[in-house]
Amino acid sequence: MQISDIETQLKELGQGATEAIAIAESLEKLEDLRISYLGKKGQVSKILGAMGKLSPEERPKVGAIANEVKQAIQTNLDEKRSNLQAAEIAAQLEAETLDVSMPGVNRSQGKIHPLNGLIDRALDIFVGLGYTISTGPEMESDYYNFEALNTPPDHPARDMQDTFYLPDGNLMRTHTSSVQIRYMEKQEPPIRIVAPGRVYRRDTVDATHAAVFHQIELLAVDEGLRFSDLKGTIKEFLRQMFGDLPIRFRASYFPFTEPSAEVDLEWNGKWLEVLGCGMVDPNVLQVVGYDPEKYTGFAAGFGVERFAMVLHQIDDIRRVYASDLRFLQQF
Ligand code: DAH
Repeated sequence: MQISDIETQLKELGQGATEAIAIAESLEKLEDLRISYLGKKGQVSKILGAMGKLSPEERPKVGAIANEVKQAIQTNLDEKRSNLQAAEIAAQLEAETLDVSMPGVNRSQGKIHPLNGLIDRALDIFVGLGYTISTGPEMESDYYNFEALNTPPDHPARDMQDTFYLPDGNLMRTHTSSVQIRYMEKQEPPIRIVAPGRVYRRDTVDATHAAVFHQIELLAVDEGLRFSDLKGTIKEFLRQMFGDLPIRFRASYFPFTEPSAEVDLEWNGKWLEVLGCGMVDPNVLQVVGYDPEKYTGFAAGFGVERFAMVLHQIDDIRRVYASDLRFLQQF
């Protein structure tokens, strides 16, 4: 084998490689070409295998040419690779363009239950009036639910609020008024709190009564609080909640307030009772260690379901608990 033969073969190989690389149309194809030309058992190596037969003086010359050819093939491969990669990305971008005019997929989304929404709204109003939020347990002792609220065991007012008694002597609270005592035991006046929560009654269930329902309790104790403060607070709250619906204060009785009142809203041509309220009875202040000569207070208990009926025109309270989506989705 002549040195000129090897030279010619190498140059032809280089030429062939340039053409093959130029027409390769995929990265896989390009990789096949690289292995075929430059791989350990590739065509360049094969030609160089014949170098053994050359004289020592000739070898470096052929080596230099081989390197040149290899280098050229490598450069071609690299260039082509980056071209193919760019083309691949361009094609991908083309295929994946976002059509912003496509109609969206409607996914149904959970929302807040109308009762919770109403509680949130009411609490927001009171927070705006300077009240803070407190809570208490639903399972209560007789003491917090009745006794401390000036309602001893033989008191006739217990009749209205007969409830679920537990085997251990505790009961399910009949009203959120129990939170009043729990809060006052821990804090000194002045206080202004609202306490939302679930309450239990052994009521006959009908369109306007449920065995479990929700109340928001309100309590303010300070020096010099008067009935007019109570009236102003409640009127302002109802105004923010319902706008200008007609309301009336009606004299009433609760063991833990004196004097006491109930407030009705005019709704669908009828008066609907929505809350009880009054000036905190001095006995209640005394029970928690407040001096009734120094402090006075007012309190109220709002029926959340009654609010819902008025605000959302719900004729039957039982619908609110039925978990019927056809009903709930209207809010
Ligand atoms: N706890 C009473 C009830 O459930 C409502 C009530 C009346 C709460 C007067 C009060 C109040 O705080 O002052 O019927």
